[in-house]
Amino acid sequence: MILFKRPGDLIDFIQKKRKSAIKVGFVPTMGALHNGHLSLIKKSKSENDITICSIFINPTQFSNPNDFEKYPISIETDIEQLELNGCDILFMPSVNDIYPENFQKNNFELGYLDSILEGQHRAGHFQGVCMVVKRLLEIVNCDILYLGQKDYQQCMVIKKMVLDLNIPVEIKISPTIREENGLAMSSRNKRLNEGEKEAALVIFEVLCFLKENIFERDIADLKVKSVEKLKAKGFDIDYVEITDEFLNTITTAEKKQTIVALIAATIGNVRLIDNMILNNANDAE
Ligand code: PAF
Repeated sequence: MILFKRPGDLIDFIQKKRKSAIKVGFVPTMGALHNGHLSLIKKSKSENDITICSIFINPTQFSNPNDFEKYPISIETDIEQLELNGCDILFMPSVNDIYPENFQKNNFELGYLDSILEGQHRAGHFQGVCMVVKRLLEIVNCDILYLGQKDYQQCMVIKKMVLDLNIPVEIKISPTIREENGLAMSSRNKRLNEGEKEAALVIFEVLCFLKENIFERDIADLKVKSVEKLKAKGFDIDYVEITDEFLNTITTAEKKQTIVALIAATIGNVRLIDNMILNNANDAE
């Protein structure tokens, strides 16, 4: 694996490689890698000639400075894991490389996505995500960008930005990777103590409960019950929401519609998010 720290060096390298017809896959991360990230690396490896992973803890997407300071860092094991999984290039820029003094801040037009769910609870978060992903895409010049469904709203936001700005990249979204007990893999899990980890299983349990009952019970009732279950395990809840595929809240469930459940809740001082597709419109008879 080749490590690049300076954007200019990576840009030159990819430019030279592109003299022959190659495909480049890109997995952006903030490090503290887990099997979710590694599954994206593997997918990219199987579909491209070169796979690039970036590790950059992006300060502009943290609305809570405490969350930024406490973000887990494990560079050495990350590098080992990337090498074991055959990643070709690791890009590890500094804050100054990504946001140099003359950096022009865009205002991304994200519409309702900027003010609901994660947008509502983490002001400015998606502007920061777009800022860094746009910059990274300019540098890595990839054909395919790989993202995880765990960050459902982030995937929608990045898709919108790519479409609006005509960025020539295909986006592929892979299913959430879970521990055997159902806990969605997340870098933030590293900050949970044993008790919190145990309690966090309730998130997956609630999502399964919603999936089992979505056509059996009233949505308002299901949400109340879900909130009770999460609170009983000590969670502070930002939202338990049931939406269509575009994240519009729904109040009745129809089989011909894609239905998504999304949860954001905090235990101790660790905020977790998760989601599940409760019904897939394509499966409707
Ligand atoms: O999902 C993440 O880890 C980050 O939001 C991303 C896409 C790497 C941008 O910093």
